Amino acid sequence: MFFDVPATVIVGAQWGDEGKGKIVDLLAQESDVVCRYQGGPNAGHTIIVDDETFKIRQVPSGVVSGKLSVIGAGCVVDPEVLLGELDQLTERGLEPNVVVSGNAHLIMPWHLAIDQASERRLGKLKIGTTRRGIGPAYADKASRIGIRIQDVLDAKILRQKIEVALAEKNIWLERVYDVEPFDLEAVASRYEGYAQRLRPYVGDVSLLVDRALRAGKDVLFEGGQGTLLDLDHGTYPFVTSSATVAANAATGIGIGPNRIDRIIGVAKAYVTRVGEGPFPTEIAGPDQERVRELGGEYGTVTGRERRCGWLDLVALRYAVRVNGITSLALTKLDVLSTFDRLPVCVRYRLRDGTETEDFPAHQSDFHAAEPVYEHLAGWRQPLDGDLPEAARAYVARVERELEVEISLVGTGADRKRVVALR
Ligand code: IMP
Ligand code: MG
Repeated sequence: MFFDVPATVIVGAQWGDEGKGKIVDLLAQESDVVCRYQGGPNAGHTIIVDDETFKIRQVPSGVVSGKLSVIGAGCVVDPEVLLGELDQLTERGLEPNVVVSGNAHLIMPWHLAIDQASERRLGKLKIGTTRRGIGPAYADKASRIGIRIQDVLDAKILRQKIEVALAEKNIWLERVYDVEPFDLEAVASRYEGYAQRLRPYVGDVSLLVDRALRAGKDVLFEGGQGTLLDLDHGTYPFVTSSATVAANAATGIGIGPNRIDRIIGVAKAYVTRVGEGPFPTEIAGPDQERVRELGGEYGTVTGRERRCGWLDLVALRYAVRVNGITSLALTKLDVLSTFDRLPVCVRYRLRDGTETEDFPAHQSDFHAAEPVYEHLAGWRQPLDGDLPEAARAYVARVERELEVEISLVGTGADRKRVVALR
């Protein structure tokens, strides 16, 4: 049942890095089309096949399995990263089969410059972005001065748009951020070069996915980042600049929400967060370092240390709600194998002393929330094949609290290290 993939969304149920890449890779084997619907090269998916490690940021993870890989209108695309990934995959003997929506927006060099300069300027108040130009590219999209993939199809339009954008961006860069302006000729010729190479990959993604679904094909929608990084429903302002929730799979591709059959949330058996912002279950003391080392919790894109915390069922319950999660994949359970007792946050204690199972709707309540833990028994043995009793109890407890079934448990980095429970 789990491996049946009609129209399935895979969504991160925490702050990103839940191990979605591995679950997508697994389900991609059974899919015909794999789509990215939001985000850009801020996502970092690690897929391990035999002894080969693939780190992918811009194209859907399904590309490793040779599936038709689609980048939807809701994405922002850094052409240098995209073309670099296509080259790398080709060098490793794969034939990437990729279609990019003409409506997706391009990340331009000034977006990277502004992302970096603005984080520097914010100082202690910084968001801790991946500095890939994601936020500034989405901001220009909303301001209707963005440059889209389809603009590369016409050299004259492309140059004109770059000229218009630069006239404004250079003033910002020089006067507000005190950094070097960009030279029109240099940017235009660089992007004209990308344009030549991008052209064959541009297509009508909405139509393509609609036709695939009508033909009864299996389509997988691969979310980037995670629920708590959603622009509207996450821990604003410490969020990314796109809608990461499952519903955006429809908008970001250009299909109706009623076309989606299944929403799989991916959560780690603990929690990590990169970048700034509140994190109630962040571990105090040496156990944080222990989880980080055991879990290899360093950013795929940035190499940054990830902050580590105990499993937070209040936040997960919220993720189940805002995404409409129909089943969960619980990843990296093996990382917890050496602990005697496993704290699990079942409620938050708020400033007024009341306790709640529901995620606070206002930021000041969330910032001040204290986790209420229950301690579950550890299993103290490596996970391989059938799960030991205590590990099963851990999984069952999560299911009971969330009222959602856990279909899959991750027990190691390799593609094969998963236990299907149903
Ligand atoms: P941005 O997406 O680069 O603008 O970064 C905004 C916030 O989202 C920062 O806290 C980043 O660390 C976080 N973020 C963005 N992409 C990912 C991801 O793939 N995994 C985890 N955190 C991410
Ligand atoms: Mg990641």
